[in-house]
Amino acid sequence: MSAIVSPSMLSANFGELNKDIEMINRSEADWFHIDVMDGVFVPNISFGFPVIQAINKKAEKPLDVHLMIVDPDRYIKQFKDVGAEILTVHYEACTHLHRTVQNIKSHGMKAGVSLNPHTSVALLEDIITDIDLVLLMSVNPGFGGQSYIENTYSKVKQLKELAKCKQTQVIIEIDGGVDTSNAQKLVDCGADALVAGSAVFKSDDPEATIAKLKCR
Ligand code: DX5
Ligand code: ZN
Repeated sequence: MSAIVSPSMLSANFGELNKDIEMINRSEADWFHIDVMDGVFVPNISFGFPVIQAINKKAEKPLDVHLMIVDPDRYIKQFKDVGAEILTVHYEACTHLHRTVQNIKSHGMKAGVSLNPHTSVALLEDIITDIDLVLLMSVNPGFGGQSYIENTYSKVKQLKELAKCKQTQVIIEIDGGVDTSNAQKLVDCGADALVAGSAVFKSDDPEATIAKLKCR
């Protein structure tokens, strides 16, 4: 099975956003990865609803929205309204994670939970059967263009094992420092979906890079 590829719009050229959206539409990419940062949960601010709405107008593939924000419950309906199909929140940002997950699902979106590099996969034991996707951060969230953290391979394997143990299907997505040098190994460890920002948008041939990241 080939990997789901989700190019991160954080690395797109916002001056010519339509060009980059059209490139992803044409390419073999599966989703649009949308990083929302609030300057509180992470030391950076990205973009909000008007930009996501503009992307959604042109995007012909699902929006995979990654919230790096505190108290995401306040905005779940708004993310649905601007086109999110998958909505991922951080384990570390949600006091009542189960309630947040139910809230996301009640709005008809797929629910994802993201773990920072230091957060153990074992902490998902009591929520894994309720969620559609786990987003493993392979860098500390907040910025594109950082180096991949090698320990992620072992987290992917542990997560795969946990899902098997719990007899549940969950999409394992990896985010941060993913490129054509580590994609295949991630897939071999059990990753289903790969996010790539700089590897795609800084490449001389973004469409060809996306095709390589599919790991066929
Ligand atoms: C980082 C974001 C990532 C980022 C990935 O906090 O969650 O999605 O855009 O960028 P690269 O692929 O450049 O590491
Ligand atoms: Zn992300």
